[in-house]
Amino acid sequence: MEQREIPRRTVLKTGAAASLSGLAVLKLAGPAQAFPGHSGEGVLVPWLDPTPPVPPENAEILAHPLDWEHLDSWLTPNDEFFTVKHYFQPDLSPVDWRLNVGGLVAHEQSLSLADLKALPKHAVTFALECSGNTGGAPFAIGLIGNARWAGASLRQVLRQARPLKKGVEVIFWGADSGKVTILDNSGVFRPVPPPDDPDAPGLHITERFARSMSIDDAMSGDKLLCYEMNGVPLPPDHGAPVRLIAPDWYGVANVKWLTHIEITDARYQGRFMARDYVSIREEERDGETVWTFTSVTHELLKSTPAKVTRKGDQYSVMGAAWGAPIAKVQVSVDGGTWQPARLHRHRSVGASSGHRNEFAWAFWTFAWGTPTPGVHSITSRAFDEDGNVQPTPDDPRITSRHTFWENNSQITRRVLIP
Ligand code: MTE
Repeated sequence: MEQREIPRRTVLKTGAAASLSGLAVLKLAGPAQAFPGHSGEGVLVPWLDPTPPVPPENAEILAHPLDWEHLDSWLTPNDEFFTVKHYFQPDLSPVDWRLNVGGLVAHEQSLSLADLKALPKHAVTFALECSGNTGGAPFAIGLIGNARWAGASLRQVLRQARPLKKGVEVIFWGADSGKVTILDNSGVFRPVPPPDDPDAPGLHITERFARSMSIDDAMSGDKLLCYEMNGVPLPPDHGAPVRLIAPDWYGVANVKWLTHIEITDARYQGRFMARDYVSIREEERDGETVWTFTSVTHELLKSTPAKVTRKGDQYSVMGAAWGAPIAKVQVSVDGGTWQPARLHRHRSVGASSGHRNEFAWAFWTFAWGTPTPGVHSITSRAFDEDGNVQPTPDDPRITSRHTFWENNSQITRRVLIP
């Protein structure tokens, strides 16, 4: 496996974002820099299986998924970064906004944005992926982006609040809420009831977006109370003024429009912990079928081919890998022998801050050569530094799922070589 480091000589994306900060959205200077070893990217050869647009009925929730075929930036520009909004987008004034840290703590906190900014600033580059990405819905491809997130350390703020010994769980509350109906008899989550039918059977509630994790998880890693994305203030659709950034955790754990952090002595079982974003699996254990229910937490090892390009008669495949520190990526053409891809290492952007890139995605390229004319399939698989490999679609870890969350199986794309 050949590994090369991406040169730090990058250029700012032209336009307004570039002028905002030296750390503003960075675009790689050109294909030659994006993929060392190639003198240019050449002409795009489109996939035969393009991703359909997000249908209107889902457009309120989901916006601008990543366009893999046009991927040319290691950091995803903020306005091209996918968004998921389950309820609505709160309009929080950065001046009046306060973060309350309460519950089982000795020193309840009410922090302004200025208070958070007065604390040491930490940064992490993290590829945030929705756990529903490539999970089944044909348009749910590209629910991922890689950004440099910056803010105050969650650990430091929690320590300031001095959690009591019996506090074992930390709940992160967003400002957004919505009407949901829970049927009394089955406990199954149902969509919002029609407004003209308030007497429909079931328990109708207004629930705020919230996620929780254990206090040990909250205290560990580089979790941020994030107010900056790619060098500019966190944009409104990404959670302004402050969101949680939990590197290595699936998107749903990264609560946007954060207003309260509550420490409790019991597990939190709200919609996004216990009813939605729960993987339901049917597993065979000692000849017996066991159904399991697990809340979505850490991202899983994954890779995908992003695009095929041609220069003269030479074709190459470019892609990304993430979800764990990546050791290597391999590519199989038409189901044939796995061949090594070249993994491109990135140095930290703003390396002076000393932050690492272990939670970022890694780009890779595969020199395909001159394939025969006709339809070909391209599959990639990633290996992490512990030797784990991205599973095949028929791996029991994948086939046992009855929900569409956490599908990290190998992805195959098809292309026509003229
Ligand atoms: N936080 C709040 N308050 N409300 C939400 O709907 N969606 C979650 C998470 N945080 C959500 C939220 C989901 S499912 C994902 S995948 C990520 O936000 C997406 O983050 P992004 O919109 O910045 O890409």
